Amino acid sequence: MKKVKKLVIGNWKQNPSTHTDASEIFKGIAKKAHTFTNVTTVVCPPFVFIDKLSAGYSGSSIYFGGQDVSFEKSGAHTGEISAAQLYSIGCDYVIIGHSERRAAGERDESVNKKIKIALEHKLTPVVCIGESERDSHGKYLSHLRNQIAKALKGVKEKDVLQVVIAYEPIWAIGKTGKDAITPQKLHETSLFIRRVLLETFSKKVGMSVTILYGGSVKPMNARELLEEGEVSGFLVGGASLDAGQFISILETAHNI
Ligand code: 13P
Repeated sequence: MKKVKKLVIGNWKQNPSTHTDASEIFKGIAKKAHTFTNVTTVVCPPFVFIDKLSAGYSGSSIYFGGQDVSFEKSGAHTGEISAAQLYSIGCDYVIIGHSERRAAGERDESVNKKIKIALEHKLTPVVCIGESERDSHGKYLSHLRNQIAKALKGVKEKDVLQVVIAYEPIWAIGKTGKDAITPQKLHETSLFIRRVLLETFSKKVGMSVTILYGGSVKPMNARELLEEGEVSGFLVGGASLDAGQFISILETAHNI
């Protein structure tokens, strides 16, 4: 049976503190990433490190992504980074609407604008959704439905097909491998996300959009989450800062 190519993205968040350390982590990942041909590997370092890392990288098996993007094209927006700027320093991906940005004030409306501007500039938007808690009445499902509808409002069907949805339940982020979602719950949630996409757009969108999982993905749980969770890969936080752990996750994804 032909294996489906996986997508594994490392989100370094606000780490590490120096370019020297960033370069060390990157070199460690780059040493092996090219051998995992069944995986598309992406790293999203802090903005300030991307240019030097991508310029100094002679391989072609690792893609770069930003952790956020401005919804404005250019102009007087102090502190913002545009989609064109990300693209110009070698980014192909950008994380949009991460829960940590939402906690810092990001709204669904700006997530929507950011997705549109990223698509205009040939960046693949990695759109994060996720509930803060799982209530027994299933309210979290309407929360997810709402986040998807607002994020993708007005995005054309052909463009939605380029979007990656990263399902990151907030309660599972930054914990140990034992605290991640169970493969069974992930499977159900992934099917739910597909159903919402199908109802909102089309069968084709529902069936083909790439869905990732994020939230305490570690070498110890990567296999079961991928085998039984009905996702095409991961958005990895903490473990992506440790080249050994990240490589182990890439290797697992490559072998499934
Ligand atoms: P952890 O893998 O550290 O839980 O982080 C997940 C995440 O937020 C990735 O974007």
